[in-house]
Amino acid sequence: MISIAPSILAADFSRLGELVREIELGGADRVHVDVMDGHFVPNLSMGPIVVKGLRPVTRMQLEVHLMVTDPTMFVEPFLKSGADSLIVHQEVLPDPRPLIRAVRGQGKRIGLAVNPGTPVEAIEAYLEDIDLALCMTVWPGFGGQSFLPESPERIRALRKLIETRNPKCELEVDGGIDMKTAPTSTSAGANVLVAGTSIFGAAVGPRAAVQQMLKLTS
Ligand code: DX5
Ligand code: ZN
Repeated sequence: MISIAPSILAADFSRLGELVREIELGGADRVHVDVMDGHFVPNLSMGPIVVKGLRPVTRMQLEVHLMVTDPTMFVEPFLKSGADSLIVHQEVLPDPRPLIRAVRGQGKRIGLAVNPGTPVEAIEAYLEDIDLALCMTVWPGFGGQSFLPESPERIRALRKLIETRNPKCELEVDGGIDMKTAPTSTSAGANVLVAGTSIFGAAVGPRAAVQQMLKLTS
């Protein structure tokens, strides 16, 4: 079963509520909220106020991708605002266990992300304790980039580790996912697809784009 997680970074913010309802009708499983601090990545995006605004609009999970240097600082504010899951980067957490415990202790889901330059083995020891592993398929910071060619190999390697350590852990990919790279990613072992530009920038509209991506990967 493949899940689509449209990234609202690519959405028209003046119509956010309406567009989120569209992707839900198309069969999206969750909303991907990209949070950037201008430090871990060279860009700024959104904060807990956006999650709070979206909470009453949808029943979908609100998944927050924290591209920030100090994720611990933002756990409380995002969970209070209605986030269902938080994804934090391995690169800023020498020991992610306290943060994993803090999020799970509140009954919420936790994911660990790896940048393209980080070996996927860096999160192997934590796979048993997390709900999702995110393999970045671009360098984080901006939407609309191209899927990195080494990604399928990295996805396959991470899938192997997940099968050994914790098959229930989801394997998500993020960056440059479109109608061509979505099937490439699911064939390599991904089961959650983050997609921004290819959904919210689609000529057919976000609802049909989600339906199309689901069809291509089922
Ligand atoms: C990259 C973000 C992604 C990005 C995806 O920094 O984490 O979620 O917005 O956008 P597209 O699908 O346009 O590559
Ligand atoms: Zn993201």
